[in-house]
Amino acid sequence: MKLISATANQHKYKEMQQILSGKIELLPRPPEIPEIIEDAPDLQGNAHLKAQGIMEATGKPAIADDTGLEVEALNGEPGVLSARYAGPHAGPEDNIKKLLCELSDVPMVQRGARFRTVIVVLWPDETFITAQGIVSGKIALSPAGTLGFGYDSIFLPSEIPGKTFGEISDSEKNQISHRGRALKQIANLLLSTR
Ligand code: IMP
Repeated sequence: MKLISATANQHKYKEMQQILSGKIELLPRPPEIPEIIEDAPDLQGNAHLKAQGIMEATGKPAIADDTGLEVEALNGEPGVLSARYAGPHAGPEDNIKKLLCELSDVPMVQRGARFRTVIVVLWPDETFITAQGIVSGKIALSPAGTLGFGYDSIFLPSEIPGKTFGEISDSEKNQISHRGRALKQIANLLLSTR
């Protein structure tokens, strides 16, 4: 089965290819497709908007994900706004800086957080399937590690004590990550129903 990926992020595309390999063929997002505005109020809505945009542009089944970092001490923020937390043109360093600043007075025991990913696979007849994946952990006091992307250098997953996502290999991250978990569910759904 072939699915067109909605992501323009090479790190995410590589992760998704690694996790789905052997089960589903993931094709890259055609570069001529313009940016899709992600203005839904939640992750599910944004994942659907992205899948819809790619499916309509290509006429083929599409797969899209949306991820949020939900921080307990900030009542679930940045959540759906994670990509633009420090402003509309913010990069990962700006977002990390803002988050660490917001949490500067918050002790380690209260720095609980989770990454949550919602994935949507949408067919040209508008039928779709969806799955969610979560990884729980804490926000580190300062960045550590250069691997991965986005908020990886400040996320300490509970399953790997003392290391951020920025300090572990791709394959270690894929085993426990939000996107890994959501993708495994999607792969099982696709293989059992299609
Ligand atoms: P999006 O779902 O690609 O729009 O991601 C939303 C925000 O979360 C962006 O700032 C990403 O860099 C960040 N993000 C998504 N997935 C991950 C991840 O696996 N690790 C770290 N940051 C991530």
